[in-house]
Formats: sequence, structure tokens, C-alpha cells
Amino acid sequence: MIRQFPQKMNVFVVGAGVMGAGITQVVAQAGHSVHLYDEQQEVAGAALESLSRALQSRVDRKKLEAHQVAEILTRIQLAQNLADADQAHLVIEAIVEDINVKISLFETLETIVSRDCVLATNTSSLSVTALGRKLEHPERLIGMHFFNPAPVMKLVEVICGVQTSPKIAEQVYQLAESLGKVPVHAKSTPGFIVNRIARPFYAEALALLHERMVEPARLDSLMRAAGFRMGPCELMDLIGHDTNYKVTSSLFEANFYDRRYMPSVVQRSLLDAGFLGRKSGRGFYDYLNPRPLADPEPTAAAQLPDWQNLTVHGNNRISDHFAARLDELGVTYQKNPASSWVGLDSDGRQLRLSSGQSASQLGTLVAVFDLPLELSGTRQLAMAVSRQTPREFKSCALDWLRLFGFNPLPVADTPGLIVARTIAMLINEAADAVQQGVCSEQDANLATRAGLNFPAGPFEWLDELGVDYVVRMLENLDRVYRGERYRVSPWLLQRKNVPESQTESTR
Ligand code: NAI
Repeated sequence: MIRQFPQKMNVFVVGAGVMGAGITQVVAQAGHSVHLYDEQQEVAGAALESLSRALQSRVDRKKLEAHQVAEILTRIQLAQNLADADQAHLVIEAIVEDINVKISLFETLETIVSRDCVLATNTSSLSVTALGRKLEHPERLIGMHFFNPAPVMKLVEVICGVQTSPKIAEQVYQLAESLGKVPVHAKSTPGFIVNRIARPFYAEALALLHERMVEPARLDSLMRAAGFRMGPCELMDLIGHDTNYKVTSSLFEANFYDRRYMPSVVQRSLLDAGFLGRKSGRGFYDYLNPRPLADPEPTAAAQLPDWQNLTVHGNNRISDHFAARLDELGVTYQKNPASSWVGLDSDGRQLRLSSGQSASQLGTLVAVFDLPLELSGTRQLAMAVSRQTPREFKSCALDWLRLFGFNPLPVADTPGLIVARTIAMLINEAADAVQQGVCSEQDANLATRAGLNFPAGPFEWLDELGVDYVVRMLENLDRVYRGERYRVSPWLLQRKNVPESQTESTR
């Protein structure tokens, strides 16, 4: 039977910094009593004041009534010392991210709290298993990872260490739901779910910048056009390069220097220069002298191209989009749904959806375009041709894309372009996480949507793109880059469609 917390709980929050204050607000707003404790009493006092101001501003914005704020505030008390945790049903720790300080806090707490009290840590990077190792009852220690700002961000990762009781995990999961959050279950492994699955979003951008394939502003605008709320460069500037680099480095180290998680020299040099992002006035962008990038206006499509023997290749929503538009234009074409690629062919001149090969690997009369996640509206889309491609074919390929409703932007001829390789790598990382029992597919989707504000989850993209496309993309990237970064998750390989002939021969 799953243990239940009482309807009205006593929660003890340790650490009154950004996270502790936010968590206190969330818990008190849900009707529970909270004691907030910080070893620096003045910090706790200041946190309560800023929390009152935040609640008051919700009254001004007509989100709360004044009497509700008064009630919430009566439920919050400042604790003078840890001993006040003796009546707590749950302690949530949000102190400094230092393993020894946290271990010693939990050891002390265990001498104060009742036997039934659950101990939760809000750590963003430390092992929950390691934090529990000195406890007499490590089964009651769990990760309850809120995101910043806690009152706004919906996601809570409920993290089990090796010794955490599954019943307590379920109890805390239900509590998080009752707080109005979106909880997900995770196993205590480096980066848990979100910080791990998000890595390729930054890493692919940094790799493209390292190879000088694209400028930060162009990269960001292409990713925004694909449906991401922010591009990776502006997001790293917002998070702060010191923080972002630290998380990447800790994952790299915690995975025994697996080169997939290797930090980037591009980010390292920003750090060396003191360009920490928005907070220091400069990162990829200069916030003191902003120079907004003028997005190129979409150019109207030219007249109908001189298409001969036009064939639509592939069998997915992109080939359907091409076919529907050609029908609309009254153009005659054939279909090759069994083709190994997606796009158009007119007498050997090809426009192909990127599958991890550069245009130069495919031929001089081939243009590759990036993965359009959205087909509605006129959206920017990266497109590349090889260096040897005749100029006329390049402008012709641009016109073709315009006719299908895109605003194509030529970029350097890089394998997997920008969106396609990033999405494939996000899926690959999520697939490894599921393979290793870190989370379920469904929770990976929830976590990326609610914790990262991505437009979809990795397994939703996978359903749409198909395993074969993603595996081909990763294998093609691996052929070019040869290293650990693009190795394909065994989870994906196990789900790949095996051609009939091969199934026969292995019987
Ligand atoms: P912070 O530095 O704003 O606040 C930490 C507070 O803990 C300070 O007020 C400090 O006086 C107090 N403290 C330190 N040692 C203590 C002890 N032994 N006993 C009582 N109080 C103590 O830190 P922040 O950002 O609130 O982070 C807290 C925890 O939450 C860390 O584990 C961090 O990794 C995690 N976290 C942080 C996020 C963020 O965006 N800041 C997001 C998610 C998790």
C-alpha cells in the first residue's frame, strides 16, 4: 500500500535561497504549513519578504485575492533552528550544492525528525544514492528536483537512489501532483532526466559553431523557426555559461569521461573571457550594445520551375506536403514512396531532406534541406549545396523550396544541418536514458516539455520521424565525425526495421 501524507502537512524547508524560497511558496500555496530555515537567519527573513512581494504582485495582477495571500503567509514561519523539524512530515533540502555539507545535514536531520518523516533533496547534480549513504534509513531519502523559478516551472523530477523505497517515491510523486506540478520518476544517474536529455541541444550548437558552420544569431533564428522558444545560444546566454559549462563538465566526469558529453572549447573560451552571458552583459551576444539580426524577408516564389520527370520521393508528412502543393499547382509528378530518401527529383536534379549526409557527399546537383518540424506558415529553413554546385542550380533549389512555402536560408554544407542533427541527438540521448532505466518514454516526453519548454518530447519526434530515419542520420554523422558522440543507442537499434533479406539470412 502506498503511504499517504496527511491532507495538511508540516513541511520543513532547509535553505532559503532562490530555490528554498520558491519551494516554500509552492507548498504554502497548496495549503500546507511550512517552516523555512537557513543557517543565515537574515537570508531567511529576506526570502520571506521577497516571497510576500511576489504574492502581492499576484494580487495586483488579479491572480490571487488579498485574503488568500494573507492566509498563505500565515502558513509560513521562519524556523530558528533545525530542531524545529521535529514535527515535519517532509523535509525539503535546498542548501548549497556541496555533497559533504548535504550529507552532514541529512545525518543531523535524522536525529531530529520522526521515523516516518520523508527527507527530500532538491540537488540538481549530486547522486541521491551518495547523499543517503550515511543515513540509518536511506530508504526515506529521495530527490525532489524543482526547476527555477519553482512557483512557475511545472516539472518536478522525483529521483530514486539505489536505496530509496518505491513506496516513498510514489508518495512524493502524488504529493508533487497535488502541488499542481508535473512529476516524473527518475533514477539517480548523472543529470537525471532533463539535464541529461538537454545536453545535445547545447552540444550540437557548440559543435556547429566550433566548425564555423553557422553564426549564433542565424543558428538561433533557425531553431526558433523550428518551434523552439529560444535558440541554444541565447538560452546558454540566459542560463549563464559558467552554470551551463559546469553542468556539462559534471556530466562528462560522472560518465567517466565518455566523449559524448565532452565540454566545448567554444564555451570554455567564452568563460575564459568572462563572457558569462546576460548576467555579465556579454556572451554569444553583446547585451550592452545589442545589434539585432535582421531576418531576411521571405522572397516570393518564382514562376513554376522547368520540372521534367518530376518525382516525389518518400512517404512521410514532408513528401505528403510536397505532393499536396504540386496538386494545388496542377503540376504532373510521379510518386516513389519506397524511396530511401525524402524530397524531389527532376531529371537528376534533387532536393533532399537531410539524413545526415552533406550535399557534397551526394552530388553537385543535389541540395539538402533541414528538417521542418512545422509545415504551417512561412518558416526559415536551412539549405545547403556543395561547393561545386553550379550557381543556377543553387538558385533553382531555393526557388523550389519557396514554392513549397519555406523561407530557405543557405548555410554551410554540414552533415545533418542544424535542426535535423539536434533532434536526432536529443532522441538518441533520451533512448539511452530509457535503455538504462533512468525514465520511461512518457516521462522523457513530459520532462522535456515541462522542464525545457521544448515544442515536443523526444519520443513524440521519434514517432513522427521513424526509427530508421533517426538511425540513418546518426550513422551518417558517425561516419563523418568518427568518435563516441554519434554512437547509436542500442534502444534505437533494437527497434530498427530489419530488411526482409537480412531476416531471412539470419534464420
Ligand atoms: P542559493 O545559494 O540561492 O541558496 C542556498 C542557501 O542555503 C543559502 O541561503 C545558504 O545560506 C543556505 N545554506 C547553505 N548551507 C546551509 C546549511 N548547512 N544549513 C542551512 N542553510 C544552508 O542556492 P539555490 O540556487 O537556491 O540552490 C539550492 C539547491 O537547489 C542546490 O542544491 C541547487 O543545485 C539546487 N537547484 C538550483 C536551481 C537553480 O536554478 N538555482 C534549480 C534546481 C535545483
